[in-house]
Amino acid sequence: MKNFKTYLQADKDRVMALMESSLRSDIDLLMRCNRHILEHEGKQVRPAVAILIARAVAGDVTEDTIRFSAAAELIHNASLLHDDVADSSSTRRGVATVSSLLGPRPSVLLGDFWLVKGIARILEGDKNASRVMGLFSKTLSDLAEGEMLQLEMAESGKTTEKEYYRIIYDKTATLFETSALAGAISVGATPEQEAAASEYARCVGIAFQIQDDILDYFGNEAMGKPVGQDLKEKKITLPLLGAFKADAAQEQKIREMISNIGPESIDYIRNFVLEKDGVGYAKAEMEAYLSKAVKALDVFQDGKPKEYLIKLAAYIGNRNK
Ligand code: FPP
Ligand code: MG
Repeated sequence: MKNFKTYLQADKDRVMALMESSLRSDIDLLMRCNRHILEHEGKQVRPAVAILIARAVAGDVTEDTIRFSAAAELIHNASLLHDDVADSSSTRRGVATVSSLLGPRPSVLLGDFWLVKGIARILEGDKNASRVMGLFSKTLSDLAEGEMLQLEMAESGKTTEKEYYRIIYDKTATLFETSALAGAISVGATPEQEAAASEYARCVGIAFQIQDDILDYFGNEAMGKPVGQDLKEKKITLPLLGAFKADAAQEQKIREMISNIGPESIDYIRNFVLEKDGVGYAKAEMEAYLSKAVKALDVFQDGKPKEYLIKLAAYIGNRNK
């Protein structure tokens, strides 16, 4: 991924500079929280997707590409600041969350601040600001609905694949899709190119979340991702749904265990998923989405951006953090 990083560096620096200037405030507590997040920025996959799509369409980026990419990353971080409160998470990206360091209130308020700064960047778009704002509004509504459905399902213990896929589209793939489409729009893509960008990013987003859910079962804690969190939160994800397919006889019992989850049942369920190769099932589904994503790129000319979009899809399937 070294060449990939080098290729994107100049564009990413512009995105980061715009994020930092957007977040400036004279409130000391707010700046302390900002610094904490900015110093532990994540993989910035959403801006990478928007930039690579813009480059695949037009060979270059515009000011709007940078604005929309910054908006995607600001909104993504805003959703995580809210999510860490909702999930009472003490760590993210291997470091303490704002919520655990300073409390849930600063985390929610900081999330609000990052969210509106993202919206402000979209509204500054030279062209198509209102269309792109409409796309991000739909995505924000998906995020909230996905989180609500996830809560409802955790309560009932009845998640099936249908609800699982709705949840992961809403909580993850929708923002990938909108980031890619905004990147395409920022350089005047054709409707065919727009559709390809959306399809690529939707599939990559779904694959990204499936891999996240696999890592929650058998990831490497040292890479900064706590393991076993989803079961603690009563979330039924694809590795377990895959194991149910292999052994339906145990399904009811395990669903009941999840409603009263404790450390022993977590070990039992992880063993069940291991024995029934639920991860193999989830990986196969993920690979199918990644192949679909790569196929969608056929409409773009061969060249570096397309090559890196393909590499990005492969990286998502192999990532360990
Ligand atoms: C992480 O999932 C959570 C999300 C990707 C979306 C969170 C969305 C909201 C809280 C809706 C409100 C958002 C805004 C901007 C108003 P996870 O908990 O499964 O993964 P994790 O391990 O990264 O926490
Ligand atoms: Mg969470």
